Amino acid sequence: MISNKAVKCLANEEMVVTPWEVRGKIDYERLIREFGTQPLTDELMERMKKDFGELHPQLRRRLFFSHRDLNVILDRFENGQRFVLYTGRGPSGPVHIGHLVPWIFTKYLQEKTGARLYFQMTDDEKFLIEDEMTLEETTKWGYDNALDLIALGFKPEKTSIIFDVRDIFSLYDIAVKVAKRITYSTARAVFGFKDSTNLGWVFWPAIQAVPCFIHAKLTQENVPALIPAAIDQDPYWRITRDIAQKLGYCKPAQIHCRFVPGLGKGGKMSASEPETCIFTIDTPEEVKNKIWNAFTGGKPTIKEQRNTGGNPYLCTIFQYFLYLFEEDDKKISELDENCRTGKVICGDCKTILTERVNRFLKEHQKKREKAKEEIQNFSLKAGEKK
Ligand code: TRP
Repeated sequence: MISNKAVKCLANEEMVVTPWEVRGKIDYERLIREFGTQPLTDELMERMKKDFGELHPQLRRRLFFSHRDLNVILDRFENGQRFVLYTGRGPSGPVHIGHLVPWIFTKYLQEKTGARLYFQMTDDEKFLIEDEMTLEETTKWGYDNALDLIALGFKPEKTSIIFDVRDIFSLYDIAVKVAKRITYSTARAVFGFKDSTNLGWVFWPAIQAVPCFIHAKLTQENVPALIPAAIDQDPYWRITRDIAQKLGYCKPAQIHCRFVPGLGKGGKMSASEPETCIFTIDTPEEVKNKIWNAFTGGKPTIKEQRNTGGNPYLCTIFQYFLYLFEEDDKKISELDENCRTGKVICGDCKTILTERVNRFLKEHQKKREKAKEEIQNFSLKAGEKK
């Protein structure tokens, strides 16, 4: 168990990973050790392959790399017992394609297991932690961002979207029960609260715990939640797992992914640096400009690159093929090889990626428009009736 707000590693570049801040060079093995999670072993991969019929590319390529109690969830699945899925989003601006990565994975899990998904839109959280944002803005972004989720093809019969401020009536009883069990000193140690932290923020982690238990409350079916999320959210689950059984609920399980890199050098895709991320509402022209300005593993001159090759593992463009835009493993290894040997150069990859991203976004934007008519079918109340 880490005793501090952040895992800090003073190597060349400081690594900081908290639910609100991710920067520096990320050492994932160190995160597993210091957060106290488990690595996704080959054995678990084999089990998932058997259970789900196929491994999603994000599993095969180890984008998901760590977990807590995934084996418990697989035991249940293999015994025909149910569980639910839970993930979420802090809506402080438009969705970028990095955000879609765990959502696409969640959809795969839902399709393979039939589990109901609870998706939490934390307009309250973003209002509390972002100095500059009004509640009206974060709430508006919440509805906007939900369109991206729906556009991915989640089915309303199996998916409830929780908008915190709107739905607080359904959340509050569990939230106070959670909050009473967590001392300020634990919360401060886990999240690094300071004297200047506002009171709303201090209470807020209780709200992120609620969807782990909401299915049990609404349906009387006491089943665990499996949470696919980037590993920076883990501190929330650590405190939730500690108190779950005291409240009569199952401990939530997690499967953690890496951060999807931005198009700039290092770090995760960050909406605060708009030129480094591709938003789902970008025009084809914007996409093209961003990709053409991306940081790659290329060499200063084409001649040098033809002679000595590039480095795909430094390259943000390659990462996009790996994580989202090339499902065929054979093609990935060819690309890797061709880059290293200078057969393929950055301009080639940028052309192909631009074309694929724009093809994807064209469809996505259409579905996003359609989602405006469907959004009311995803409410928690609509879910209760089903
Ligand atoms: N706190 C998350 C964020 O800022 C949003 C969130 C709420 C979430 N519940 C979640 C993310 C569950 C992943 C899983 O983005």
